[in-house]
Amino acid sequence: MANEWGPLEGLIGEWESDKGGLDTSFSHSEGKVLGTDYREKVTMKPFGPVDNGTQSLYGLDYKTAMWRHDEENPFHTEVGYWLWDAATGELLRGMVIPRGITVLAGGFADADAKEFTLKAAKGADLYTIGENQYLAKNASTLSYEVTVTIGDGTWSYKEDSILQMNEFPEPFHHTDGNILRRVN
Ligand code: HEM
Repeated sequence: MANEWGPLEGLIGEWESDKGGLDTSFSHSEGKVLGTDYREKVTMKPFGPVDNGTQSLYGLDYKTAMWRHDEENPFHTEVGYWLWDAATGELLRGMVIPRGITVLAGGFADADAKEFTLKAAKGADLYTIGENQYLAKNASTLSYEVTVTIGDGTWSYKEDSILQMNEFPEPFHHTDGNILRRVN
């Protein structure tokens, strides 16, 4: 029988990577595109049900932080929710990135899926991206896609955020990925 969190069940817990995360982004301080190794700590706490009329969702309350090498302060953080609607197979990830970005990404998966992909696009009707005025002018996020793969005591993600940046004529692929292992 499927559990209440469906494909999100394998993400419940506390997770870390020692190293091995890779971020590709344009560094303003260095004036070039950098590939940066990072370590990460993720917490995913289950909750539910949340009812919208006849809809019943189960979710994970999550936060994550990433550090470059031995730096004290994280260079990237997120807070948000993952949500699962067992009746339709819809999966959602709503998150805030504290540089003035919100994302509601969505997709569909089977209850026992070990891999799933969620997408959002700027201006889309359903799964969309909000951003501040500065970013809209200078480094606007056109689309976001994440694929999660769940293993045994591990899970991994690959993300592609396509940015329209003043520095480049063509859309720029700001990519991230990591493998997390269970610590709790
Ligand atoms: C693991 C996840 C992520 C990491 C580690 C990360 C890291 C970074 C770094 C290092 C920068 C460069 C800052 C600078 O030097 O100016 C950056 C910029 C940026 N990121 Fe991310 N990022 C992540 C995810 C995302 C996602 C999911 C989005 C959008 C949905 C996003 C949108 C942006 C934007 C709009 C900028 C500003 C670019 C600019 O000012 O030119 N990032 N990020």
